[in-house]
Amino acid sequence: MSSDEIRKRFLEYFEKRGHIIVPSSSLIPDDPSVLLTTAGMQQFKPYYGELDPMTTVHPSIGRPVGENVASVQRCFRTSDIDEVGDESHLTFFEMLGNFSFGGYFKKEAIRYGYDFVVNEMKLPIEYVTIFDPARVPGGDWRKEGVPFDQESYDIWKNEIGLSEEKIKREGVDNFWGPTGNEGPCGPTTELYVRSVDGKDIEVWNIVFNEFYCDKNRKLMRLKTPGVDTGMGLERLAMVVQKVPTIFETDLFVPLMAFIPEAMPTDRKLIFADHARGSAFLISDGVRPSNKEAGYILRRLLRRIIVHMYLEQNPGFDFRKLFETVVRNYKDFYPELDHETTVSVFEEENRKFRKTIANGLRELKKMPLVDGKSAFRLYETFGIPYEIIKELSDDKGKNLRREDFDKEFKRHQEISRAGQERKFGGHGLLLDTGELKAGNEEELKKVTRLHTATHLLHQALRDVLGNSVRQMGSDITVERTRFDYTLDRKMTPEEIKKVEAIVDEKVSAGLPVSFKELPLREAEKTGALHFFKAKYPSLVKVYYIGDSIEKAYSKEFCGGPHVNNTAEIGRVKILKDEASSAGVRRIRAAVD
Ligand code: SER
Repeated sequence: MSSDEIRKRFLEYFEKRGHIIVPSSSLIPDDPSVLLTTAGMQQFKPYYGELDPMTTVHPSIGRPVGENVASVQRCFRTSDIDEVGDESHLTFFEMLGNFSFGGYFKKEAIRYGYDFVVNEMKLPIEYVTIFDPARVPGGDWRKEGVPFDQESYDIWKNEIGLSEEKIKREGVDNFWGPTGNEGPCGPTTELYVRSVDGKDIEVWNIVFNEFYCDKNRKLMRLKTPGVDTGMGLERLAMVVQKVPTIFETDLFVPLMAFIPEAMPTDRKLIFADHARGSAFLISDGVRPSNKEAGYILRRLLRRIIVHMYLEQNPGFDFRKLFETVVRNYKDFYPELDHETTVSVFEEENRKFRKTIANGLRELKKMPLVDGKSAFRLYETFGIPYEIIKELSDDKGKNLRREDFDKEFKRHQEISRAGQERKFGGHGLLLDTGELKAGNEEELKKVTRLHTATHLLHQALRDVLGNSVRQMGSDITVERTRFDYTLDRKMTPEEIKKVEAIVDEKVSAGLPVSFKELPLREAEKTGALHFFKAKYPSLVKVYYIGDSIEKAYSKEFCGGPHVNNTAEIGRVKILKDEASSAGVRRIRAAVD
C-alpha cells in the first residue's frame, strides 16, 4: 500500500466516523510558546479547554471544527537532529491523527486505533502500553498524582480482548505534553507492531488529555477531557510496506534513487532528510538566520552544503533533489514552493561556501578540537557547532557542547567588560556597544535611558522574580534595548506592572549615586553584576535611592547616569519579544 493510499485511507476512515477533516497547518505555529509544529495537536491545542470547538471558526476551514477531527500534519522535531544519518531518525515527518474535544473518550479512541491498525492496515498488534505511575522514576513533576490508567487497561483487556501479557504497564513514555510552557496533557496508550526484521515499532500514540498543566507546572483536571492521537506516517509506511527502514519506503525511495549509490549511507540519509525538512520549512516562510526556526533551517542547509563540499563532485544537482521532494509531496501539500526553496538554498550556499574552505583548512591544521578551537571556528567562519563536531571526528572526541557554550559566554563577558572599561573614559563621543551618543544632547538622552534601564532591570526582577538576569543591553538615542532571561512571554498585566513600578521610582525623584569600591567590597553590597570573571579590582557601584544599603537598585556599572530619577521622564515599554532560547528582549523609550 502506498503512502498516498495510507493517508487517504486514514482520513476516509475517520470521515466516515463523524470526523471533520482539517488540512495540515504550517510548520510555524501561531503559539508563541513553541518554535515549530511538532505534533498534529498543535493547531488544536486551544480546543482543549480554552476555545469552544463548536462555535470558534477555524481559520483553514472557515467554520467551527466541531467535536471530532482528523488530520495529516506536517511536523518537525529537532530532538533527533544529530542522529539523522542513521537508519531511523528524521527531522521532518508527517503525523496522522484523530482528535476529540469532549466528543468521545477512551473507549472509542482505543477501538478506532485497534480497528484501523488491525483491520484496515492488516497489522497484528504485538503489544500495547498503558500509563502506570509506579513505573515513573521519582521526581518527575508531570506525573505526580496521576493515577494508574485502569480504564484503558480494562478496555484493552475486556472490550478488545487482548491478553494480559500484551498490555504492558509503562511510566516514562506514557504521559504526553504539554507542548511549550503550558497546555493540555495526560496519560497515553501506545500500539506496537512488529517490523519485517523483527523489531517492535511504536506506531500509534493515543493521548488522553485529562489535565491542563499551567505555567507553574500545576496539573488541573480538564472540565472536558479530550483525545489526541498521533501516528507517524513514515513508520507506519515502513511496517505496512514491509521494509526494514523508513528510507526504503515509497516516501524516500524516489529521493534515494536520485542520490548516487556510491555515496556513504549516512550522507545519503542526511541529504534525503534535510532536503525534505528544508523544502517544507522554506515553503512555510522560514529563512536562514541565527535564531529560532531560522537557525534550525540554517543548520539543515549548512549541513547539506558542507557534505556537498566534502563530496567534491556529488554527481547530482541539489536543485533537482528539491524538485523531487516537491514533486512527491505537492499533491498533498500544495504550499510547497520549488523556486523559493531553490533560491533560498542557493543564497545560503553562495554565502557559506566562501568561508567553508577556509574553515575546513583551519580545522585540518588543528591537532585537537576543544571548546575553544570550536568556538574560534564558529566565530571566524560561521560553521555551526554541530557541524564542527561532526567534521572533527576523532580530533573532537572530547569536544562537549558545554565547553563550547562556556567559551561563547566567556567571549560575551570579555567584550562586555571591554565596553565598560571604555565607558569609564567619559568622552563625549560614546560608542561602547552598549551606549551610543554623538553630541552633548544625545549624551543627555542616552544617560536618561541608561538610568531608566537600571530601573527597568530591577522592576523586571520585582515582577518576574530574581531569576531574571541581564543578558545584554544596547542604548541609542531612540531607545534602550535590554535582554534578560525568561523562558516565556510576559503577560500584558506584567508589562503594565513593570511600567508602573518604573513610573513610581521616577516620580519619587530618587537620587542616583555611585561608590567606587574594591571588587570584594562591591560584591558585598549585593549589587547586581552578572559578568563575574572580568571586573577590574576597583569597581563602581551605581545605586538609586538614599543610601547604598537602602537603594532600590544597585548595579556594577561604569555610568554615566542622571543625578536624580526625576530627570528620566516617562518610560514606555515599546516591545517585548523573544531573542533566543530562554532570553527575551525588551525595548523602552523615554519622552
Ligand atoms: N501529541 C501526541 C504525540 O505527539 C499524539 O498525537 O505523540
